[in-house]
Amino acid sequence: MAATADHSTTGANAPAYYVSTPIYYVNDRPHLGHAYTTVAGDVLTRWHRQRGEKVWYLTGTDEHGQKIMRTAEANGVSPQEWCDKLVEEEWKPLWEHLEIANDDFIRTTQQRHTDRVQEFVQDLYDKGEIYKGGYSGPYCVGCEEYKLPGDLLDGATEGEKLCAVHKKPVEWLEEENYFFRLSAYGPKLLEFYAANPDFIQPASARNEVLRFVEQDLKDLSISRSTFNWGVPLPWDEKHVLYVWVDALQNYITAAGYGSDPERFAELWPASVHLVGKDILRFHAVIWPAMLMAAGLPLPKRVVANGWLMVGGEKMSKSNLTGIAPTDLTSHFGVDAYRYYFLRAIPFGTDGSFSWEDFSARYTSELANDFGNLASRAAAMVGKYFGGVLPASASDGEAEQALKDGLAKAVEAADRKIGEELDFAGGLAAIFEFVKQVNGYITEQEPWKVAKTAFGDGGSDEGRARLATILYTAAESLRATAVLLNPVMPSTAEKLWASLGAEAGLGALSAQTIATVADWGRLPVGATVTKGEILFPRLEEKPAA
Ligand code: MSP
Repeated sequence: MAATADHSTTGANAPAYYVSTPIYYVNDRPHLGHAYTTVAGDVLTRWHRQRGEKVWYLTGTDEHGQKIMRTAEANGVSPQEWCDKLVEEEWKPLWEHLEIANDDFIRTTQQRHTDRVQEFVQDLYDKGEIYKGGYSGPYCVGCEEYKLPGDLLDGATEGEKLCAVHKKPVEWLEEENYFFRLSAYGPKLLEFYAANPDFIQPASARNEVLRFVEQDLKDLSISRSTFNWGVPLPWDEKHVLYVWVDALQNYITAAGYGSDPERFAELWPASVHLVGKDILRFHAVIWPAMLMAAGLPLPKRVVANGWLMVGGEKMSKSNLTGIAPTDLTSHFGVDAYRYYFLRAIPFGTDGSFSWEDFSARYTSELANDFGNLASRAAAMVGKYFGGVLPASASDGEAEQALKDGLAKAVEAADRKIGEELDFAGGLAAIFEFVKQVNGYITEQEPWKVAKTAFGDGGSDEGRARLATILYTAAESLRATAVLLNPVMPSTAEKLWASLGAEAGLGALSAQTIATVADWGRLPVGATVTKGEILFPRLEEKPAA
């Protein structure tokens, strides 16, 4: 999944590492599946920030279309009122709670978006890319998409057809509307995929798209005239734009397309569009074709993640079995939540969530391996050296093995998380190092060495050895705090504070991945304090 580029310069117009999430439908509140992609994007962008790169992270909400309109109607409010309420009361607060550090939040009902969308489609219309025609076919309101016969399942009654994603009956729509000449773009798209083999990831997603485009592409119906909750077509206001065509453009309107050319030059093309596998075709086929038609560059990568599953089905509002992200964070904490899903499920594949698996990983990986290591090391510096970090006297083989282990972990984590979006693999590499540090302490037995350091029979040699072990442990934790900062920012900050690192090294956010493996950065004499327990014992599982 590699695609490297130099984003390290900071001058005006230097390219930024720009990552987007899908913009979410606000017909309902966010669930674990939405949070999964948003946390992944947050970790990816925090990782690149930690490299010292210029970064831009975009998320937002998709507010037009029939689905939102019907939900608002069913709740007796206008669509705009409904969207405003959901965005302010549900979506933004959840992202804040999960410590999502997005740089912008786009809502498709904002004028900064709708004005640019109108200009964009007018341009395509003027270029002859859009024409008027008629269409009839099965439509799924849940997907906001006309379906092909191969996309449908048989329903319970004779002739009834169901959407394969939503398992709900499709509706038959017949409309006169405007079409985008998507069919003209098949060969150009195939050429583009061939020239850019990393454009669609993972490989399974790429193959699916290739197979789809290799068949004949049909022109795309891009307007609706049977309802009005959407962006009016500037040349025919009886029609509103198909919600997907409006939605996809969020990636450029938020980046300054048509309003701020300098910023747009810095941000576009996007580095990574993160998408769920169900919306891959929109991002890897329709969106690139629209950009080609407009003469704009294409995003560098579209990366599809799998679904979080419950009982073998895609997790959705209706089959969530009542679990909201905050039910999990109130039990496990926000940082463990951010960690768990990325660690437990290889990005790109479907994965099941279970309370038991989360508890087991929390206890063994976070509380025992990592949290205990941090508190034991700090406690020993407190007990034996009054909380003042001693200098390492002479490093031997055991210390060298740790330095090598750290260098290996940094290289692997940087490549896997920063380039390959293999979060599980990157975290495994970091935790391999944490395990190695634990092994080092177990083998070195500082509590025994302490007996040769102080009191009767205490020696300079004993004190020197003890100092070496504890400096080595603290220095390893210094590096671990930096590596885990993008994933668990609050925990990493607590660790940074407990190591007294700020006084000598500055803020945790100012540390870079490039220097994290440089041994000996944590200054001798740092004030080490025990601080609070990073991962407290879990309470009993709340009753369902
Ligand atoms: N509004 C469109 C996206 C427009 S992007 C220009 C949309 N919205 S959505 O709210 O229905 O879904 C947004 C994303 O959430 C999709 O990528 C979808 O795959 C993802 N998920 C919804 N349920 C999910 C899981 N159970 N697991 C993982 N992601 C899932 O589609």
